Amino acid sequence: SSQVDLTSVLSVDTRYKTETHAAASAGEQVVEETQVLFEANEEFRKNALVSSTEKYEEMYKQSVEDPDTFWSEIASQFHWEKKWDVTDGKVHTENFDVRKGPIKVEWFKGGKTNICYNALDRHVEAGRANDVAMFWEGNEPGYDSSVTFGNLLDLVSQVSNYLRSVGVKKGDAVVIYMPMLVELPVAMLACARIGAIHSVVFAGFSADSLAQRISDCKPKVVLTANGVMRGTKFINLKTIVDDALKQAKQEGYTVETSVVFANEVATKKEETAWVEGRDIWWQDVIPSQSTKSEVEWVDAEDPLFLLYTSGSTGKPKGVLHSTGGYMVYTATTFKHAFDYRPGEVYWCTADCGWITGHSYLTYGPLLNGATVVNFEGVPTYPDAGRCWEIVDKYNVNIFYTAPTAIRALMREGDKPVKKHLRKSLRVLGSVGEPINPAAWKWYYEVVGDSRCPISDTWWQTETGGFMITPMPGGWPLKPGSATFPFFGVQPAIVDENGKELHGECSGYLCVKASWPSTFRTLFGDHPRYETTYFAPFKGFYFSGDGCHRDKDGYYWLTGRVDDVINVSGHRIGSAEVESALVHHPLCAEAAVVGYDHEVKGQGIYAFVTLVEGVEYSDKLRKDLIAKVRSQIGPFAAPDIIHWAPGLPKTRSGKIMRRILRKIAASQIDELGDVSTLADPGVVEQLIELRDK
Ligand code: WT7
Repeated sequence: SSQVDLTSVLSVDTRYKTETHAAASAGEQVVEETQVLFEANEEFRKNALVSSTEKYEEMYKQSVEDPDTFWSEIASQFHWEKKWDVTDGKVHTENFDVRKGPIKVEWFKGGKTNICYNALDRHVEAGRANDVAMFWEGNEPGYDSSVTFGNLLDLVSQVSNYLRSVGVKKGDAVVIYMPMLVELPVAMLACARIGAIHSVVFAGFSADSLAQRISDCKPKVVLTANGVMRGTKFINLKTIVDDALKQAKQEGYTVETSVVFANEVATKKEETAWVEGRDIWWQDVIPSQSTKSEVEWVDAEDPLFLLYTSGSTGKPKGVLHSTGGYMVYTATTFKHAFDYRPGEVYWCTADCGWITGHSYLTYGPLLNGATVVNFEGVPTYPDAGRCWEIVDKYNVNIFYTAPTAIRALMREGDKPVKKHLRKSLRVLGSVGEPINPAAWKWYYEVVGDSRCPISDTWWQTETGGFMITPMPGGWPLKPGSATFPFFGVQPAIVDENGKELHGECSGYLCVKASWPSTFRTLFGDHPRYETTYFAPFKGFYFSGDGCHRDKDGYYWLTGRVDDVINVSGHRIGSAEVESALVHHPLCAEAAVVGYDHEVKGQGIYAFVTLVEGVEYSDKLRKDLIAKVRSQIGPFAAPDIIHWAPGLPKTRSGKIMRRILRKIAASQIDELGDVSTLADPGVVEQLIELRDK
């Protein structure tokens, strides 16, 4: 069963071969790869956690030669109600090779702990109850609040007690569909406290997507809010949830309880649709709960959360993370990749609906006792200076965002940045897609005043934590390179036959051995876990990304080599968009590819074949886009619909996406050999229909 045809996982053409390595996303010239733009000054290095390449190399060596000792020492800094089992000196077991049996990863098995206890109680017990854990900044300037570790523990305890009272037990799933209120991370931590598995669904997904996830993980309870303002846009979350719960019911799964946070800044309670018996206001049931809540001690290998993400084919995959290894790894990566120093204020602009909001807005920083900023709004509202206003307001030391946000702000010029001081900034971070050198330079020079190193962190929902990342102060940075592997991470760049390449090379990025926060399975589908990630290159975890390693050993991520499109740092499966399009009764067939987009990194380009006899029209174009918005979510809406009388297919019927990508990129003189197509004439037709 583990034998798969590579071409079903990878597209025939791999992007890394046809494009220059570093971050070609914005379609610009690549900066000389050897150019070093940042070298930490002495002052920075003196205080850095990892202050030199030698120090890193020494620690790295130990981490891969003896991962059990390396990670045990770090894990000992956390609270374990019962220590993990040690067998022959080992604290982890793994099989990364499908030829040797089922893929299996375990870290700190037998150990009993609780990530919520480690993120909150531990700090409160250490006398930090009155320290600020979270600054909350609302969408509307002037709406804000701050909560201490003590407050946060009280809130989390109340929510956890409520969940218990409605029958949520260890191992049960809870779906969270909430905007970025304090209550979102609170809800996650509350689940963790009682051993329930949270599954946060980004509150920008449509009712259909939410329903699909609910039907898959069958939560006892859904936690939501009635609405939210994002920028100037109102989103009625409650009607989306109602719709989703109705759909799930039709598909055979009924959610008994839906807890609705009344977000009255966005919408009124009396204007909220209501299902008696199922819906209940958060404010009516949570504040009355006790602020004391017993901790459920769970095994290190018990599941912590599920997070759905897009693959190249089929329905979204429920990536499952377990507790102990994830805790140890997210905390350690947070500390080192941002050179975090106790007392610092850290702001991550990601939403908790994505993995970044799990690992680096909630768990990683709170486990370190850091003060985090949780921002409800968008970087450009009310104006392009909002981020820097917030940085000054809370004296943010570490700022972590995505290249798409950087490019959007860069377009507005330097003025909105320069209006604010930004003196507190010390480290900047980037995540989600390759950062193009122009954006890197602007971020570095304008935002960071050429003073702050940039941690370009490469990782994935599946990896749980940073895999390839700078450690500020440790070594010189090259704009567009994520630099070197984190402790314990053993990357391998392989060719199409799965042969590991050495030295300077380009190929598919794999990982040779497990790291503590390796995802353990795809929820309910271990075979898919094995075929997607471990079967393509035997003996390795395959990331789906292309990668180049330069002569100095720096890693340069080049983007996905499968049919996953990275739009503004969000993964969208081309198959999902295609499936949404063909749901439209007038759409006969669709093929979706990514193309370079100035702000989003990649945009969505859809080739659509209509049902025989149907005329092209702008109305139809709009309807098709609306279909995708309602099936997946607004962020997956195609940017371009290209009418296609036919699609380029091989004689066996496989769509040749290589050709479609070239047409989408307007590189029609680089189409290559089209003679193997069943009907080479379709290419001519497609070219003619550009801009139609
Ligand atoms: C994919 C994972 C990991 C949190 C956000 C996205 C791309 C992510 C980088 C980076 C180049 C990056 C990869 C990866 N990616 N960070 N620093 N440089 N590419 O999580 O939705 O699981 O997406 O995002 O293509 O495979 P995700």
